[in-house]
Amino acid sequence: MNSTLQVLTERVQDAMIKIDAGGDPLVRASQDDKFGDYQSNCAMGLAKALGKKPREIASAIIENLLIDDICETPEIAGPGFVNLRLKPGFIAGCLQTIPLASDTKGDRLGIAVCPKPETVVVDLSSPNLAKEMHVGHLRSTVIGDCICRILEFQGHKVHRENHVGDWGTQFGMLVAYLRRTKPDVIDQPESLEIKDLESFYVEAKALFDKDDAFKTESRETVVALQQGDVATRRIWKAFCDESLRHCHAIYDRLNVRLEDRGESAYTKLMEEVVDRLEQIQQEQESKDKPKDWYVADSDGALCLFMDGFKARDGEPLPLIVRKSDGGFNYATSDLATIVHRVETLNATRIIYVVGIPQKQHFDMVFAAVRKLDWAKENVILRHLGFGSMLASSGKPFKTRDGGTVKLKDLLDEAVERARNVAVNTKSETADNPTNQENDEVDRIAETIGLGAIKYFDLSHSMSSDYKFDLNIMLSLEGNTAPYLQYAYARIRSIGRKAGVDWSSWPTDTNITLEHATEIALATKLLQFPETLDTITTELRPNILTDYLFTLAKTFSRFYDKKLGVRVIDASPEELKMSRLRLCDLTARTLKLGLHLLGIETLEQM
Ligand code: ARG
Repeated sequence: MNSTLQVLTERVQDAMIKIDAGGDPLVRASQDDKFGDYQSNCAMGLAKALGKKPREIASAIIENLLIDDICETPEIAGPGFVNLRLKPGFIAGCLQTIPLASDTKGDRLGIAVCPKPETVVVDLSSPNLAKEMHVGHLRSTVIGDCICRILEFQGHKVHRENHVGDWGTQFGMLVAYLRRTKPDVIDQPESLEIKDLESFYVEAKALFDKDDAFKTESRETVVALQQGDVATRRIWKAFCDESLRHCHAIYDRLNVRLEDRGESAYTKLMEEVVDRLEQIQQEQESKDKPKDWYVADSDGALCLFMDGFKARDGEPLPLIVRKSDGGFNYATSDLATIVHRVETLNATRIIYVVGIPQKQHFDMVFAAVRKLDWAKENVILRHLGFGSMLASSGKPFKTRDGGTVKLKDLLDEAVERARNVAVNTKSETADNPTNQENDEVDRIAETIGLGAIKYFDLSHSMSSDYKFDLNIMLSLEGNTAPYLQYAYARIRSIGRKAGVDWSSWPTDTNITLEHATEIALATKLLQFPETLDTITTELRPNILTDYLFTLAKTFSRFYDKKLGVRVIDASPEELKMSRLRLCDLTARTLKLGLHLLGIETLEQM
C-alpha cells in the first residue's frame, strides 16, 4: 500500500499536469490541524512560470483535483496553500486493512518493503581498539544502529560495518608491552584477558615515555607488524580480539549487531590504492592533467591535490595517501575502504556515522573518489556527522580527575537510576504492582535505563551538541523513552482489562471514527509509513522520536476521561471493538517505532 502522502502527491501531480504545470506538488503533512491534515504548497512557486497569481493557480488545481474519495472539499488558504482534510471514512478504511498481529514479533503493521532494495553500507561505532569504549562512542553506535534498523525494515541489504581502528603506530607499543608483561600470550593467545584496557594503555604509554629501550622496541614492533612477522601478528591479534570482546559486551547489552572489519583488513588494498595513484601520477605527468585535481609528491609524501581544498594559510590542502616515511594513514585506509565497499560489496549507498570534527576528512575522501572515478554517480556517499554529548554542566564529559568516562560506567549509572523509576513508579500498567521479583526489576531497570539513554540521544537534532541529563531522560513526562514505554504498557493493560484476545479477534471489526480525538489518533496512525519513508531519505532519527511522542500525546487525549472517549465501557459493542482496535494499533505502532530506534518495550512496568 502506498502511503497517504504518496497518494495525495500523485493526485495533486495529476491536477498540475492538467493545467500544464510541472514540478513537485510539495504536499506535506500540516503542522497545524487548522489547515487540514495535509497541504500542497506548490502554487506559490508556479506563479512566475504560469504568469498567474498563486491563489488563481491554487483554485485551478482544486478544480482539476480528483480527490473526493480521500478528502473533504479542499480549501485555499493564505497566499495560495491548498489545504486537504482527510475523510474519516478514508482513514478508517486504510487502518482496517492493517492485518491483526498474530505474533507481535516481526510485526510490520502491513507496511510493505520498498520495491527497489539497495545495498547499503553503514559505517558505525568504529572505536579505536587501543582503548576502552568511552562516552564519545555512544552517539555513532546508537544513531548508526537506528539508521540500520530503519533501512533493514525497508528491505535494504545493510552491511553494519564496525570499522575499528586496529592498525597504526600505537599498536607497536601495545604489542611490545603485552610481550613484556604477559609473555604467555605467544603460546596461548586465546586465553588473554585484560580486565582494564584503559589502564593497560596508560601503563604502556608511561613506559614508552620514560624508557628509551622500550620506545625502540615499540618502533621495531610496528615494523615487524607491518611486515607480517608471524609471532608479532599473533600477539597483536590476541590484543585486538580481547579488545573487541570488551566492545561486544557493550554492543550485546545495547542490542546492537555489528560486523567487525577494522582498518587492518585493508592493508593489501591500501597498497593497491597507492599503486593506482602512482600510476595516475605517471600518466598525469606524461599527458595533460585535469584542471581541477592532480596527484603529486610533496615533501616526500604522495598526495592528491584538489581544487576547493585549502589550508588556513590559503595554500592548497593535500590529501596525503602515503606519508613521507612510507607509511599509510587514515585517508589511505578510507580510500581503500570505499574501493572495497563499491567494488566488492557492491554498495550503492555508503553512510558514515562519524562525529562532525571529521567532516573535512570525509569531504576530501569523497571528492577524491569522485575525481578518481572509484565511486560513480549512482553511489551515494554520505557523512552523517553528529555533535558531541556534553556533561550536564555543558562542558566536555570527563571524570572528576579529568579522564575519559567509560561507556560502560555511563550505562551502569543510567540503569542504576532507572531502578528507582522501576521500583517507585506506582504503576497502573502492572497487573500486580507490588509483586515484582528482583530479577524482574533488574530487567525493567535495564530496559528503561538503556532505552532512556538511546532515546535522549536520538531525539536531539543530530548535528547539535546536547547535555547528558539523567533526570530529564528518565522522566516519565515529556519526550522521553520512559514516557513512551509507559504509554505502551498502559495501552497493553487496557487490552488486558478489557479481556481482549487478539488471536481470536474478528477480522471484520469495523473502525468507526466520530469523535475529534478519535479522528486525530487515527490520522496519526495512518502517517506512520510515510514518516518512515521520510527518515529513510533524510536519515534523521529525531523525525521518528517526534512522531512517536506526538502519537502518544494524541492517544492520551483520546483516552482522557474528559477530553476523549470511553473505551472499555463504550457502547454499543461495535464502538468498543473499534476503539480497542485503535488502542491496539497505537500500541503496535509505538512498539515497532521504539524497536526501530533500538528500544525495547515492556508489557508491564
Ligand atoms: N576509528 C575512527 C575514530 O575513532 C572512526 C572511524 C570512522 N570510520 C571511518 N571509515 N573512517 O575516530
